[in-house]
Amino acid sequence: MTILDGKKTSSDIKEEIAIAVEALKKQGEKTPHLAAILVGSDGASMTYVGAKVKACELVGFESTLIEMPDTTSEDALLQEIENLNNNKEIDGFIIQLPLPKHIDEHKVLMAVHPDKDVDGFHPANVGKMALELPTFLPATPYGIMELLERYEVETSGKNVVVIGRSHIVGRPMSILLSQKRTAGDATVTLTHSRTKNLKSITQQADIIVAALGIAEFLTGDMVKEGVTIIDVGITRVDDTSKKRGFRLAGDVNFESVAPKAAFITPVPGGVGPMTIAMLLKNTLLACSRKE
Ligand code: GUN
Repeated sequence: MTILDGKKTSSDIKEEIAIAVEALKKQGEKTPHLAAILVGSDGASMTYVGAKVKACELVGFESTLIEMPDTTSEDALLQEIENLNNNKEIDGFIIQLPLPKHIDEHKVLMAVHPDKDVDGFHPANVGKMALELPTFLPATPYGIMELLERYEVETSGKNVVVIGRSHIVGRPMSILLSQKRTAGDATVTLTHSRTKNLKSITQQADIIVAALGIAEFLTGDMVKEGVTIIDVGITRVDDTSKKRGFRLAGDVNFESVAPKAAFITPVPGGVGPMTIAMLLKNTLLACSRKE
């Protein structure tokens, strides 16, 4: 069994980005600058955004964090997005999801200029991705493709089962894996909450991408020997033995699945760090595209 080490791989990618930034600076080019908007004080979102800002520092990017209260109106958020769209210093920006319930997520994501949409969530960029045109790939699916590629996991002609059809992970994963590309050419089944006999489907899978957001959902009896497991889940589960009162659980029951797996991502230290590395990669691309 091989661990798909996202922590190590993301470090390698950040190192590559840092070298590219250093070269840009030497040539007197602009330093890449990522901005993030965080609305409200959701604990997990604060952790993620904090990690994104810290990663910017590590690779030599500029970063700007815009924190807005829970009570922020949709109009105020749209105004902030407009400011970032027009700010020449900012190469790319993200709005951390989820947003408070009174704000229309679709409207907000539509307002981001597609050239600065380093999350790849704007319909124009989703369309380009689906049509295999150059664009920003959403960071989590991009990170998973990169992991599969760097560990040379064979995907061509393989049965891949994606669990979860979110716009951020499941749906784009199913599209990318089926495309004619590196870490593509797979036969993809996209499963979700209405899927019948899920276990009989996952048992046929050569590769499983678990992205449904239910802690330890996928168990050893649901997979075949030699399977490759990509665990996208990261749920806080109460744990009084931990100082902070919780532990982080994936969508996969690691203990029962790992012994049957050829490759598996751990949680934490698998997909999560890759997401951040690929966001930086998209920001570098946004910056260099403008030249
Ligand atoms: N919330 C969960 N994943 C993501 C992500 O990739 N980007 C943003 N902006 N919010 C998220």
